[in-house]
Amino acid sequence: MDARPTTAVIGGGTMGAGIAHVLLAAGSPVVLVEADGSRLDAAAQAVSTSLDGAAQRGKLPEGTTREDLVARLTPTTAVDELPADTALVVEAVPERVDVKQTVLGAAARACPEAVLASNTSSLSIGAIAAELPGERVIGMHFFNPVPAQKLVELVVHPGTSEATTQACRDWVDALGKTSIVVNDAPGFATSRLGLTVGLEAIRMVEEGVASPEDIDTGMQLGYRWPMGPLRLTDVVGLDVRLAIAEHLTQELGPRFTPPQLLRDKVERGELGQKSGRGFYDWS
Ligand code: NAI
Repeated sequence: MDARPTTAVIGGGTMGAGIAHVLLAAGSPVVLVEADGSRLDAAAQAVSTSLDGAAQRGKLPEGTTREDLVARLTPTTAVDELPADTALVVEAVPERVDVKQTVLGAAARACPEAVLASNTSSLSIGAIAAELPGERVIGMHFFNPVPAQKLVELVVHPGTSEATTQACRDWVDALGKTSIVVNDAPGFATSRLGLTVGLEAIRMVEEGVASPEDIDTGMQLGYRWPMGPLRLTDVVGLDVRLAIAEHLTQELGPRFTPPQLLRDKVERGELGQKSGRGFYDWS
């Protein structure tokens, strides 16, 4: 496998561990940054376990073992000590502008040439870039679970340079995934459109148009969706969808107003797959 430039992933939770996995599998050394020692151990373990699963399913590149890849992972808690020649930094810390600005600011100082990518699912890339070298800042929105999902949504704000966008297109190709390029608008392309259909499907249940099963079957067989919008809402989490709907109502107007049925279900703790009940029974 060709050696690729050094990368860094900041935040090794659900998304960061997956992003580290795919960068390692593509041949890059990865510096994994966590907030403290115990979370760092857990994050490094999560990456190792994820690679192990891929190895067992025969999904690692030919001729590489989990051990080869783990050997290229450098865990650290010192974001200000990232290698100066790091080419790509991806942050996957919690969804707060100030936290993202802090970690990317430290990375920008330590790595003068690096692309500074945020995995935010909803925040404005322009707002994150405000105090940073904006030409290097871009959204790199991965999907969960990262090793399995084929899409990366690249989100460009007005200051993102063409060189940064092209570098990220090349990175996504190297990961064996497909990129789309979207301007920095609330909900980007995927969340905005996915949510629109999801909310309308919930309103249809509310109005008694059809059952969740029949609405989902309609979209699966009639429109070739791999999964219906209500089952997908259960998988994503009703609370997550409600939070995004509230955010987009604020940013884009009342067409994203959450249906009362969604609010009621979240209030009752019916959050979907993770709580055992949503529009379907998962128990
Ligand atoms: P998570 O809570 O699983 O992971 C966040 C990690 O960041 C934690 O391990 C935490 O210890 C670490 N962290 C916190 N402060 C830090 C700091 N100062 N330095 C280094 N590490 C720090 O969160 P998750 O779900 O992985 O989400 C991360 C980002 O990815 C968020 O912006 C989220 O909106 C986005 N995202 C999440 C998706 C999902 O399905 N969970 C899908 C796409 C994007």
